[in-house]
Amino acid sequence: MDTLLSILKVIHIVNAILMAWPFYALVIVNQRVRLGPPLGDRADTYLENIIKNRTIPCFVFQATALVSGLALMFLRGQGLGTLLTNPALGLKFLLLVFIAALLSFVHLSLQPQIDALFAQAGNSLPADFAPRIGALRLRRKRMASTCLFVVLTSAMLGVQVWAPFPLWLTAALIAAIAVFTWRAYKSVTPYGWA
Ligand code: HEM
Repeated sequence: MDTLLSILKVIHIVNAILMAWPFYALVIVNQRVRLGPPLGDRADTYLENIIKNRTIPCFVFQATALVSGLALMFLRGQGLGTLLTNPALGLKFLLLVFIAALLSFVHLSLQPQIDALFAQAGNSLPADFAPRIGALRLRRKRMASTCLFVVLTSAMLGVQVWAPFPLWLTAALIAAIAVFTWRAYKSVTPYGWA
């Protein structure tokens, strides 16, 4: 039982590391902004192909977080009711549902709209397409930032599932995660943390 628990913990943590993709997505998106015009050339095809092909892996990682997280609970003898009595676990569960909904929205609505605009435009992008693509991309970028914030918060809550931190410390860590996410949103984070 102990071995299974150890393996599951490793799977859960490695999976959490792999969920850092929104951070790297923000890096490449911010680099694309630095590159400047023209819009719709091969740089955009490359960027869009990378981003849209990460959706299915993201769903897989979300499902793995849920299954391994629930399995960790059960193996420790805790039932589903723990999601209601353990605030950190309950919150982790809700946050996962929230990012699954965000990802579904990007996959089913936002990304197809961006793809359709690029496809309609072909090689010569009409003038009114740029602001429309820009607005959709900005929305996707904000959602990626929200997702990054949620994943980091879930990891921070994970560490205190069985031994809660004082409330002030949790609040301070959430503030630090918010600052880090803001930097990832606004810059190419040339020094890693900033
Ligand atoms: C965004 C999704 C998630 C991330 C990034 C994440 C990350 C983490 C991390 C980093 C830990 C710390 C492990 C340790 O200190 O040993 C942890 C622990 C834990 N997580 Fe998650 N988690 C996520 C979702 C979930 C979900 C949905 C559940 C279940 C509802 C869950 C249940 C647990 C449990 C039970 C632990 C304690 C592990 C133990 O028993 O030692 N997690 N998580």
